[in-house]
Amino acid sequence: MTDATEAAAAEGSPDAVSVESNAGSSHEAAPDARRRGLFVTLEGGDGSGKSTQAALLEEWLVSSGNTVVRTREPGGTEFGLEVREIVLHSRGFITPRAEALLYAADRAQHIATKVRPALERGDIVIQDRYIDSSVAYQGSGRVLGPAEIRSLSEWATEDLVPDLTVLIDLDESAARARLDGDQKRFDRLEAEKDDFHKRVRQSFLTIAAADPDRFIVVDGTAQPAEIAAQVRARLEPLLRRD
Ligand SMILES: Nc1ncnc2c1ncn2[C@@H]1O[C@H](COP(=O)(O)OP(=O)(O)O)[C@@H](O)[C@H]1O
Ligand SMILES: [Mg+2]
Repeated sequence: MTDATEAAAAEGSPDAVSVESNAGSSHEAAPDARRRGLFVTLEGGDGSGKSTQAALLEEWLVSSGNTVVRTREPGGTEFGLEVREIVLHSRGFITPRAEALLYAADRAQHIATKVRPALERGDIVIQDRYIDSSVAYQGSGRVLGPAEIRSLSEWATEDLVPDLTVLIDLDESAARARLDGDQKRFDRLEAEKDDFHKRVRQSFLTIAAADPDRFIVVDGTAQPAEIAAQVRARLEPLLRRD
């Protein structure tokens, strides 16, 4: 997983949060009334290829004239970067409920100040990880239940649902081999045992199977260009919807 400085650079101005800090209040009455853009999320284990696909998708969308906001959770805002540092790199023990609340706090700030305003402008938001990651990691990987984790995040985001979620499915040992190859600093979740990542992978697949209208599941072992083509094919009708 990328570190905090890389995230700040990828998001452009780190001061964007303060500029947008009042944006959350405008949609309390009717959460999606002013929503016009498209919200695309990428899910899957670390090393599955989310960043690679986010970049390819952004490139294609921008070259066809769209305005794209590329972001991620945790750490899509300045506030979120601080939360990200705690949840991913804190040395002390964090209880599962505290961990779940930290992710939800990051998400609440991110959706209200960055993602909703972008969607209201009509932009396309490409987001690395969202609620499904919390459900898979905190809900199934850990001891908390998937339903309560999802409802916590739905409360945090005032029920913002992606238009499309790309699940990149990859065997945990293949993902681990890629991460080892990249020689990155392992965070708290990456350092978990294979059994944990196996449960997470299964949970992602279960979530996707229950919501086929929102999901496209792609084989993470395919070539990046092949995966990108599948994603584009699925997204195209959504781009033409109005
Ligand atoms: N489809 C693919 N096939 C083989 N290697 C890939 C593929 N997609 C990404 N990779 C490589 O795997 C590693 C992890 O990819 P990355 O996009 O950073 O994953 P994530 O963001 O999900 O952690 C990188 O070294 C990347 O170049
Ligand atoms: Mg990544």
